[in-house]
Amino acid sequence: MERMNNKPKWMAVKRACCSLFPLTCILRRHSSCRYLVDTVAGDPEVLQADAETYYEKLLKQSSSAPDIFSIPGGEKVKLEDSCVCFVPLYRNSPTCKMLLLTDPQDKETVLALYMNQRWWPVEDVVKTADPSRDGLISVQTLGERIVLFVLNCIIFGMPEENSSNGAFFLPHSATECAKILWRNGEAVAFYSVKMKGSLCDGTTGQCYLLPVLDTIFVQRKYRRGGLGMKMLRDFCQSFKSEDALGISYPISAAMYQVCLKYLQAYPEEQKRLWEVEAPGDWSQRVNIWLKIQMESSLSGRHGIHS
Ligand SMILES: CC(C)(COP(=O)(O)OP(=O)(O)OC[C@H]1O[C@@H](n2cnc3c(N)ncnc32)[C@H](O)[C@@H]1OP(=O)(O)O)[C@@H](O)C(=O)NCCC(=O)NCCS
Repeated sequence: MERMNNKPKWMAVKRACCSLFPLTCILRRHSSCRYLVDTVAGDPEVLQADAETYYEKLLKQSSSAPDIFSIPGGEKVKLEDSCVCFVPLYRNSPTCKMLLLTDPQDKETVLALYMNQRWWPVEDVVKTADPSRDGLISVQTLGERIVLFVLNCIIFGMPEENSSNGAFFLPHSATECAKILWRNGEAVAFYSVKMKGSLCDGTTGQCYLLPVLDTIFVQRKYRRGGLGMKMLRDFCQSFKSEDALGISYPISAAMYQVCLKYLQAYPEEQKRLWEVEAPGDWSQRVNIWLKIQMESSLSGRHGIHS
């Protein structure tokens, strides 16, 4: 599992350049019931250029009368250079950057994302008005890639998991295989998979030797409702013909507990599930069921690192 060990430093991300902005509008929450994922389309580079044009105008606005963004809940934030930054949507790809608005009091908290000529509050980016978006759905469209980014790098990366947790996933690549779990009009969870035969990274030329569940996340408010189990089941069911399946090392304490419950419920999977380091050679695999058994017999209880 590829992770960053520090919180994302949004404000350290290289900025774009500047020009004029008419000080005419006070931005308000969109009244339409369509959300970003339902509306965004087109070339990501064009969308980035659009955001750059907006940013240039923002830089030229009068500091005495800045535009305002209203956070859902009522608070207002001045749209100023010091609170916005561009970040890449994808790992290892500078071609698509998004403009983010950060909290002036806490620059590591992202409040909104600029796309399609308006600011979208983070909590709205993960919503959909499309009733067909329900259950586990493969990430395909640009809008779904943005939702994946927000779940992975903003919601998981910051407010939900504070620095005491110590680990954050990196952005996914533009072609990462992932599924988002949609429920009641909201993206509540996701998991991503490194496919067997896919490149481990851009430098070594090594390829994964088995399918590996690489990242998995459930929004905090939806945890302990069986969604982790549901996604692990979906992963295993997706590769029925494979003799071995991986979960990327290191597995978190909560995820070991999910594995324990899963492997008790589906004992036929006990031989199949391995904790693996890329590319997943036999020397890089530890059987998860055996590891849990060994740990629990050592500690006298079921629980790894719990
Ligand atoms: C790990 C994670 C995906 C689990 O999602 P979840 O939806 O809460 O998991 P489930 O509800 O399916 O849990 C199934 C069982 O696992 C065990 N379990 C899950 N989380 C646990 C925790 N924090 N502590 C103890 N047991 C836990 C419980 O036995 C649970 O069943 P129960 O609620 O009936 O007691 C979620 O906690 C998460 O997103 N964590 C942050 C990211 C992360 O750690 N990812 C894994 C990287 S390897």
